[in-house]
Amino acid sequence: MKALVLAGGTGTRLRPFSYSMPKQLIPVANKPVLEHVLENIRDLGVTETGVIVGDTEPAIRAALGDGSRFGVRITYLRQDKPRGLAHCVLLARSFLGEDDFVMYLGDNMLPEGVTDIAAAFREHRPAAHVVVHKVPDPQAFGVAELAGDGTVLGLVEKPREPRSDLALIGVYFFTPAVHEAVAAIEPSARGELEITDAIQWLVTQGATVRAGEYSGYWKDTGRAEDVLDCNRRLLAALPPRIDGDVDTFSDIAPNVVVEAGARIVRSRVEGPAVIGAGTLVEDSHIGPDTSIGRDCLVRGTRLADSIVMDGATIEHVPGLRASLIGREAAVHPTGHGESRHRLVIGDHTRVEVAP
Ligand code: TTP
Repeated sequence: MKALVLAGGTGTRLRPFSYSMPKQLIPVANKPVLEHVLENIRDLGVTETGVIVGDTEPAIRAALGDGSRFGVRITYLRQDKPRGLAHCVLLARSFLGEDDFVMYLGDNMLPEGVTDIAAAFREHRPAAHVVVHKVPDPQAFGVAELAGDGTVLGLVEKPREPRSDLALIGVYFFTPAVHEAVAAIEPSARGELEITDAIQWLVTQGATVRAGEYSGYWKDTGRAEDVLDCNRRLLAALPPRIDGDVDTFSDIAPNVVVEAGARIVRSRVEGPAVIGAGTLVEDSHIGPDTSIGRDCLVRGTRLADSIVMDGATIEHVPGLRASLIGREAAVHPTGHGESRHRLVIGDHTRVEVAP
């Protein structure tokens, strides 16, 4: 079996981050989403991995290299623009050859893994084996209608009256039968080749399509809120370790990771939290649910439930929470006697200030 990881797209919902970095490289528990994805793929025993990339190809290549660091072998496949998930399969035709494959959306997090669903696919080898997950709002998703034995009877995109609460999520298993389907469908109203249309085409042609339910934690990290939620979840499962320097005036909870080269001075860190290599935390109170990347400076600050990316500086901010701070960003007070806010922020940035 091969893998096809989708890491193109535009990431409009994750602006402004997606202006300067691929959304698939946003760090969750100090590790890019795509690294979590590749680790899940390796856990399926799959090594040959095609990665679909768009304009952000250089950044993704720089982060993943040839994949050997994650135990996989990567072939990069360039998509000229986001033309839909089924277009990615079309584009990868010669890479995939006559092999079965798992298609994995590069912004989806399934920390509990899908090894059991992969085993069911390998045993039965239906034309397609989709992964479904119970959601409270099926109207917002592609929904699968299932027979009692797990066979998919039909798929409906964003149904007004859903027949089930099982949404399709970002992992799909296919045999080469899918290639005929992606070649047969037409672009949807939004101009994309939809993978749900290709799977529905298979059902209509009488091919077997099955579904496996993933009941663990799942998140599509498409929006800032989702990234923070996922961060909380992953931090809670991180094995604690203190490899950096903590001075005698600091208080570190037992469920905290302090990476090598990080320094904690006169501060309190509530877990779960991770403090990245080369970062200095001074006279601050950090956590819970907080990730601070590499080479950051956090001084005189109270920070909780947040992600701070590499190289950022936060000084003398008494109450920051539920925040996503980008690479090399700086947050600090205005000069003496100044009571107004002063902002230099990029396009599509969101700032919430206390009144
Ligand atoms: P989406 O999140 O559906 O699309 P997007 O990245 O354009 O995001 P937004 O809606 O915020 O603009 O894509 C799911 C994953 O698949 C994501 O990792 C991007 C990738 N993708 C491709 O590689 N090629 C494509 O043509 C599309 C549509 C998505």
